[in-house]
Amino acid sequence: MTKQKLRWGILGTGMIAGKFAFDLPRSQGGVLLATGSRTLASAQRFSFQYGGKACAGYESVLHDPAVDAVYVVLPNGMHHEWTLRALDAGKHVLCEKPFAANFRQAEEMFAAADLSGCLLVEAFMYRAHPLLHSLIATVRSGILGELRLIRSNFTFARPELNHDARYHSGQSGGALMDVGCYCVNLCRQVVGVEPDAVQAMAHLHPGGVDEYAAALLRFPGDVLATITCGMTVVSDDMTHIAGTEGRIAIRAFWFGRDGFTVTRGDHTQTIQVEETRPLYAMEADAFAAAVFGQAPPWISREDTLGNMLVLDALRQSAGVPLG
Ligand SMILES: NC(=O)c1ccc[n+]([C@@H]2O[C@H](COP(=O)([O-])OP(=O)(O)OC[C@H]3O[C@@H](n4cnc5c(N)ncnc54)[C@H](OP(=O)(O)O)[C@@H]3O)[C@@H](O)[C@H]2O)c1
Repeated sequence: MTKQKLRWGILGTGMIAGKFAFDLPRSQGGVLLATGSRTLASAQRFSFQYGGKACAGYESVLHDPAVDAVYVVLPNGMHHEWTLRALDAGKHVLCEKPFAANFRQAEEMFAAADLSGCLLVEAFMYRAHPLLHSLIATVRSGILGELRLIRSNFTFARPELNHDARYHSGQSGGALMDVGCYCVNLCRQVVGVEPDAVQAMAHLHPGGVDEYAAALLRFPGDVLATITCGMTVVSDDMTHIAGTEGRIAIRAFWFGRDGFTVTRGDHTQTIQVEETRPLYAMEADAFAAAVFGQAPPWISREDTLGNMLVLDALRQSAGVPLG
């Protein structure tokens, strides 16, 4: 890892912006330079807590010549606009998941990155954790026999707040976009190819988004996956990966902290991967390494586009507006 530090600007002062800013000082390659908010007071509170400059509005972060990279951590429906603006301002962009409102927007964002010559990566932070690499290597080792079934679940229950963009179809909210996107991403990673057929059913919220949903994915090679996701459903955070000879169970894979178990017959072993840096520090380091040309991005654009394509197809299948 280089001693060079990437100087970050953050757009938005919400929940995940705070987690990223909290972890950033424990990264090797990143420092917080400025944070923009719709209100100066919120930016000031954020900068008091995490450091860096406070900016009224997002534009001033983009036009700060000292900022190298921008973290777009706004509601889903704003990712496209603010990624394009940041790229146009010559900044590298780490854009939160789900990358865009739909596949077409995602393609436009990568085309803009090509034009600008800047790096653009989707912020699936769990993919920067070595546990995920260990999980994929274990599946590829053949220990499960022939891969057959994946069951991946990500639900949570939180009081519904009117200002929460997750409940607004105009912000591309909904369970599939908010948390189902992780399960889609993991299933595609584990199998290593794109699904050739997908279906979903959803319970719609009056806001027009899917409050909870169940999805089926079929992959070439006769692998099937089920996904459940929800925003008002008591937490289920288990993923099971099963083959003809063994199975893996992993809890809350998106945190990468509990390891996973591999069971064959009567024998179960637990695989843990120690990592001293917190999750968002690892992500910031992976991004800096890609900017400084030391490693390829930990998520390729083909991967991000593939995820968006599946999310579009699942929402269409479930009758959820694409936004
Ligand atoms: N990687 C992860 O671990 C993870 C986890 C959860 C969510 N996410 C993603 O991160 C993004 C932000 O999620 P979050 O949970 O941090 O959301 P949040 O707490 O609601 O924060 C979003 C921020 O966006 C700004 N904003 C601008 N216009 C807004 C509007 N019309 N409605 C609401 N907020 C608006 C606000 O900041 P200002 O008022 O300061 O401008 C707000 O604080 C989403 O895309 C989400 O999918 C990622």
